[in-house]
Amino acid sequence: MTRTFKAQALATMMGTTSDTIRRATDESEILVQRQETGPRTRVYTVENVYELAQWRARKKGEKRAKRPVVVTVYVPKGGVGKSTVSSNLASILPLMGLKTLVIDLDFQSNLTLSFGYDSELSREEAAEDAVPEERVVDYHFGCLFDRWPEKQPLSKVLKKPFGEYGPHLIPSDVSLDGLDTLMTFEALENRNSVSMFAKLIAEGRSGKNPDLDLSSYDVILFDAAPAKNRMTRSALLASDYVVAPISLEKFSTKAVSYLSSVLTELKEQSNRCPELIILGNFFDQNRTRVLNQLSMIRRTYNDAWLSAVIRRSEDFPKTLSSDAFELPLCLSKPSSAGADDLRKVAQELMTKMGVL
Ligand SMILES: Nc1ncnc2c1ncn2[C@@H]1O[C@H](COP(=O)(O)OP(=O)(O)OP(=O)(O)O)[C@@H](O)[C@H]1O
Ligand SMILES: [Mg+2]
Repeated sequence: MTRTFKAQALATMMGTTSDTIRRATDESEILVQRQETGPRTRVYTVENVYELAQWRARKKGEKRAKRPVVVTVYVPKGGVGKSTVSSNLASILPLMGLKTLVIDLDFQSNLTLSFGYDSELSREEAAEDAVPEERVVDYHFGCLFDRWPEKQPLSKVLKKPFGEYGPHLIPSDVSLDGLDTLMTFEALENRNSVSMFAKLIAEGRSGKNPDLDLSSYDVILFDAAPAKNRMTRSALLASDYVVAPISLEKFSTKAVSYLSSVLTELKEQSNRCPELIILGNFFDQNRTRVLNQLSMIRRTYNDAWLSAVIRRSEDFPKTLSSDAFELPLCLSKPSSAGADDLRKVAQELMTKMGVL
């Protein structure tokens, strides 16, 4: 069954009142169904939600920075919330009127799965099990490279899980690992594979590459794997910012200082590196260990620390364990504490990055 939303949920997501949502719906003439029985309340599909958000943003006519800002969500540590932050930011930014592309750069495909795609499913299996064809993943980011054996244009690779005005996704599957291999071969042939990747993104964001025109996006997000492989280093080199989610309960200072050394190394080799932004996840201010870790981080990286944090909440793992079609938390439970934290994080990040 398709998940639907009431006006109040849209109001929470967009930081306004349900009356404003109802008025905007009338004015925009977006086709919204009403409940078949009872008070005939409006029920919005997820596509309606994004259509309305886009209509409101266009009406406000806010000016945006010219080129997309490129952000990699990365820290060299597993399970700290990189994919959670990526999927939720990608879902929140279009609600703020920002056209957003999120790229799954991890062949484990957790981000792809969180948008309802099944990266292990073949077309034949989908047909046999009556699974909608659109859930199948045929291509990934590696397929956009000239040297990929069956190069594809962006239009073939792109998925739009919540319609045209929601987040756009470049999914991944296990064969994305081949991109790292391809890059290793490039390096063995004395070509700079890391800058090949950065060049592809640079051309894409300037609109110079007709097969990969990224110039209409406001924000491009990479969800990186925890590994420090060529793909991750390349995404970092291609990015303006790196957002590093850390769990302050564990050995977070170590992971951040390691990331910081990776950035210094990049700067030395390429004279370019993204600006570091550290994001506290699994936050619990009642724990002494968390506060100790926080003061250690702030002593060294105070400028990089984002004041908005994401609290620990059981709502996060719950969204993953339920139905494969479940939505990111900011959509499935817009009034939860986790969703509220994520919206504040998105707002502070976009302000810091000069996008808003
Ligand atoms: N604030 C939070 N509170 C509770 N659980 C969380 C929170 N943030 C993330 N999680 C949970 O932690 C687990 C790991 O999250 P996620 O997959 O986003 O991490 P990751 O850094 O992308 O992992 P990997 O390194 O494997 O790619 C998931 O089950 C997720 O639901
Ligand atoms: Mg991940």
